[in-house]
Amino acid sequence: MSSAVSQTLRREIVRRRTFGIISHPDAGKTTLTEKLLLFGGAIQMAGTVKARKALRYATSDWMALERERGISVTTSVMKFAYGGCEVNLLDTPGHQDFSEDTYRVLTAVDSALLVIDAAKGVEAQTRKLMEVCRMRGTPIMTFINKMDRAGLPPLTLMAEIEAVLGVECAPLTWPVGMGSFFKGAFDLRTGGLRLFSPARGGKIQEALVSIRDLDDPRLDAYLGNQAEDLRTDIELLREAGNLFSLERYLAGEQTPVFFGSAVNNFGVRELLDAFIVLAPPPGPRPAASRLVFPDEPEFSGVVFKIQANMDKAHRDRMAFVRICSGRFVRGMKLRHHRAGRDLSVTNATIFMAQDRTGVEEAFAGDIIGIPSHGAIKIGDTFSEKEPLAFTGIPSFAPEHFRRVQLKNPLKSKQLHKGLEQLAEEGAVQLFRPLESNEYILGAVGLLQFEVIISRLAEEYAVDAAYEPVPIETARWIFSSDTGELASFKDNYRRDLALDAEKTLAYLAPSPWKLEAAQERYPNIRFLTTREIGECARPESAMA
Ligand code: G4P
Repeated sequence: MSSAVSQTLRREIVRRRTFGIISHPDAGKTTLTEKLLLFGGAIQMAGTVKARKALRYATSDWMALERERGISVTTSVMKFAYGGCEVNLLDTPGHQDFSEDTYRVLTAVDSALLVIDAAKGVEAQTRKLMEVCRMRGTPIMTFINKMDRAGLPPLTLMAEIEAVLGVECAPLTWPVGMGSFFKGAFDLRTGGLRLFSPARGGKIQEALVSIRDLDDPRLDAYLGNQAEDLRTDIELLREAGNLFSLERYLAGEQTPVFFGSAVNNFGVRELLDAFIVLAPPPGPRPAASRLVFPDEPEFSGVVFKIQANMDKAHRDRMAFVRICSGRFVRGMKLRHHRAGRDLSVTNATIFMAQDRTGVEEAFAGDIIGIPSHGAIKIGDTFSEKEPLAFTGIPSFAPEHFRRVQLKNPLKSKQLHKGLEQLAEEGAVQLFRPLESNEYILGAVGLLQFEVIISRLAEEYAVDAAYEPVPIETARWIFSSDTGELASFKDNYRRDLALDAEKTLAYLAPSPWKLEAAQERYPNIRFLTTREIGECARPESAMA
């Protein structure tokens, strides 16, 4: 590669910012996404994201299920340009029932934005998602939303984030009042004060007042008796608060905090401006054989999500590929390593905020969609030549189980195909017991089961139902101690199954039985997460 080409590659990579928003449902993720796109110039009108969501929901029956319940299960990617950067925003399904998919989206990002409702503080869903970020050391920026409503005091919110999420907070803006007394936000870095005026809809407002310092008498003119409160707060923060450290943020140890009100467009610009400066560009990613750097000339990428029903007329499925290194150009021949075949990719898609368009060129950090007719699985690696296998795309041990019951026995072939494909897509986990021909489904959230029944009916014309099954928890089994493994298999055969990747799993009837098994077989690893593709490793316990 010529040095001019490698320079272009590097220039393109350092201006990429790929991130996901994490929040508990209702904290304001959709609103903030929309406002980021509005400030980023990617959409002209507020309401577009919500309207598009509504339109998408109308495209299929199982999506009608989402609409009925007022939740969002579909992940999308939105790309826009801002301040010289190319921003890839990965939307994550917020409902806890879809957390496995949400978790995987977090493996494709370089940083995350945490949205917290000022009135509710840290909520359950946020905790789970933060665990994934912490596991990966993902840098997190925090936006405390809904300051226009009465909420918890800012110091309490930060203390809660620190205690519950285990990450230090460093405020970069500080609110003046809240609820009906919300007057604006003070910028701790510049000493500017942004005054708040409610501005719903698309109007980009915000009066910025540059004050000399906190003793500036104009502060009293603007804020009345709240000026004194602000002075006290800032003094306290400067004495006892955490100073922002870029290094600690990038290491995932500290989160810079912003206060605002997404629905009122307040605090969003500061957030976006800071984001493009502070958030990391694509970094190196671990593959089984080595670390892969984004500015390596050869293309490589990994599939982190498969989405069906993007276009119902074509019954297509889209494999979402995070580019890990190099440059993608239309028509490029890529090696699909697991399948052992080459693919000329002429019809990849890039997801612009406004639309999906054919992609001519994309760089490390970008997400492209490759149409799939079933051959591509989550965790698959594509590259130009080198047989890489990216690691770190996890499967999570399911928490709920059902046995599938087929209503029309003549459809057993279709059922088999449907369940295998849906499992490959990551919509559900499929287990086949060693001792029977049953299909056991495992899910992280209950709603997934309903989605599967609807999709089996709609896409595979299979009428199926569920039966309860006495399984409470599952663990993947790994061991290099062949003797112990053989004995374990003999003794626990009735509760053993193979998942869709033929990895051995123990489907435990109760937590105490699991505990007993663990005590009895100390050299066996009972894993709650499994890396997709891990069964290919030599120590795995293929049955
Ligand atoms: P989600 O994607 O995280 O689930 O949340 P979403 O953006 O849909 O927001 C949830 C609710 O919170 C919405 O109200 C939204 O308008 C409101 N909201 C978002 N940001 C703010 C804010 O800064 N201040 C206040 N007061 N409310 C905010 P809704 O009634 O459910 O929907 P809508 O009728 O307003 O669209």
